Amino acid sequence: MKIFKSMSEWIKFRKTLSGTVGFVPTMGALHDGHASLMKRCREECDVAVASVFVNPVQFNDPKDLEKYPRAPESDAKTLESNGADYVIFPEYNQIYPDGYRYRLTENELSKTLCGASRPGHFDGVLTVVMKLFNIVKPDRAYFGEKDYQQFLLIKGMAEAFFTGVEIVPCPTIRESDGLAMSSRNALLEPSLRPVAPEFHEALSSGLPAVEIKTVLTKKGFVIDYIEEHDGRIFGAVFLGKVRLIDNVKR
Ligand code: PAJ
Repeated sequence: MKIFKSMSEWIKFRKTLSGTVGFVPTMGALHDGHASLMKRCREECDVAVASVFVNPVQFNDPKDLEKYPRAPESDAKTLESNGADYVIFPEYNQIYPDGYRYRLTENELSKTLCGASRPGHFDGVLTVVMKLFNIVKPDRAYFGEKDYQQFLLIKGMAEAFFTGVEIVPCPTIRESDGLAMSSRNALLEPSLRPVAPEFHEALSSGLPAVEIKTVLTKKGFVIDYIEEHDGRIFGAVFLGKVRLIDNVKR
């Protein structure tokens, strides 16, 4: 596996590659959820590329950005053992030479669910993913259903801008107790960790959204939203200081 820290070197090298190129964009602190995307990419594509970039412009809360876990060395190992050929580790100035003067906005779905409580978040996500698509030039890109709203928005963007990139959804990978794997789980207070799986359990209960809210509030969760959309139930909750998101098919 080869690591590129210079985007200009990578862009030159990219021109020499042939075959189908698969891409897994990440923000690092990788777990088995990310690993499953990398494995799938390896199986389905001739060339498997990943990126690790903690994208500051998608964090609406500066404290969240500061606390976001970083583990570049173990990330490189995880990506290599799951079949990555190339990993790009860009720096802020290489991705935002324009200082984020140019950005992409979606004006419907991105304003609901997570977008309603995280203003600007999806502008940041769509902008960085479009930049990364232009840098990596993938044929296919892999995204987790854990962030289902993100997947829908990226698929819509890829089509709206005729990128030609096929957006592949991948199932949510969970801990054995049902908690969706997330880089933020490591930040949960140990005493609250046993409570966390109740979130997925409640979403899977088949109860209406209002009743799910009542159940979770009684257990100590602070509700951001619980809402049905597109035949799925979506939720975001705080447990202590950590924001958890999940969704299940209805
Ligand atoms: P990050 O949170 O690092 O996630 C990278 C990819 O891994 C996303 O497609 C996400 O949906 C997927 N993923 C995370 N947890 C998962 C799980 N438990 N099961 C399956 N897939 C999982 O999402 C981002 O980064 C960023 O917004 C990014 C798209 C990289 C743009 O900055």
